[in-house]
Amino acid sequence: MIDLRSDTVTKPSKEMLEKVLEAELGDDEYKEDPTVNSLEDYCSELMGFESGLFVTSGLMGNQISLLIHSNPGEEVITTKDSHIKNYEHGAAAFLSRTQFRDIESTSGVYDLDSLSETIKESKVNKPLIKVLASENTHLASGGSILPFEHIKTLSEISKSNGLKFHMDGARIWHAILTDPQSIEYGKYCDSLTFCFSKGLGAPIGSMLMGDKNFINEAREYRKKLGGGMRQVGIIASAARYAIENRDHLLEDHKKASDVNNSIEKDNRSFHTASYKGTNMLFFSFDTPDSAEIFRKKLEENNIISGFIKKDIIRLVFHKDVSINEVNSIVEAINYSSSIDI
Ligand SMILES: Cc1ncc(COP(=O)(O)O)c(C=O)c1O
Repeated sequence: MIDLRSDTVTKPSKEMLEKVLEAELGDDEYKEDPTVNSLEDYCSELMGFESGLFVTSGLMGNQISLLIHSNPGEEVITTKDSHIKNYEHGAAAFLSRTQFRDIESTSGVYDLDSLSETIKESKVNKPLIKVLASENTHLASGGSILPFEHIKTLSEISKSNGLKFHMDGARIWHAILTDPQSIEYGKYCDSLTFCFSKGLGAPIGSMLMGDKNFINEAREYRKKLGGGMRQVGIIASAARYAIENRDHLLEDHKKASDVNNSIEKDNRSFHTASYKGTNMLFFSFDTPDSAEIFRKKLEENNIISGFIKKDIIRLVFHKDVSINEVNSIVEAINYSSSIDI
């Protein structure tokens, strides 16, 4: 079976596991694990932040950021379809006890007029807005890349309104490799988290970055949340291998784009196939039932697909899909969409 549910399904390669065996270890609670310390420095220097903290997951990085940047009852601006709001199991309500305020957006790009209006209105008779959150790449629209200029604008808006700017960069390396100039997020964001365990292909872990004070506080919260770890170089070494070998993400873009360019564009059961330039291909359907039939047909043809909503199926390309499998994926899609639904 070719598993395209997500880019989280990859297995560590032999080369990655060899790095794990060689890793120097210590107790990270005493800040004595050299592999973790060096990974935190490597990532924060790469992206222009003062400091970094290795955390268990993207969710932990996002939620620690909200805990630090806001107080209960205050608000976090986000897009209606963001991960931090919709897919983190209510963690913000549970932990920081903030609420979200949605702003109109297209593929993760905020409507700037609505944003200014909302910030202006919040000054009177409304909860205090403390955080502006953004997501790059933007998952719900199919892995869209936010223009770096937009990120700079959001940073300026945050600064001039006394808000903290947080970036959920779970898949940010897909965006950075596409536009290598756009790496200096430390200049523009108060905090950023990215995941090693998605397209980058490591089994566990995310990096949270910010200034020194932010990271000191984040270390405290990580402990409170049960995320303090010991000889964690075991997993940080796999993460280090993943980030140093990140260029393969561009091959994943090519696989997704090749499939998108090769599938039959007529006589299909889905009404749109959309490709947003990274490693995902989304198919939207008129009804959840037709999506389910398509999903089953793909499975009969050895392709496991994922759902983003009941009527939107996603195929996510990753390092464990070989370029030689592109043809069979195209054939499976063409077969599944030629069936009467
Ligand atoms: C955009 C985005 N942010 C955050 C996360 C959370 O990452 P994790 O699953 O490591 O908690 C995900 C996971 O899929 C994601 O897609």
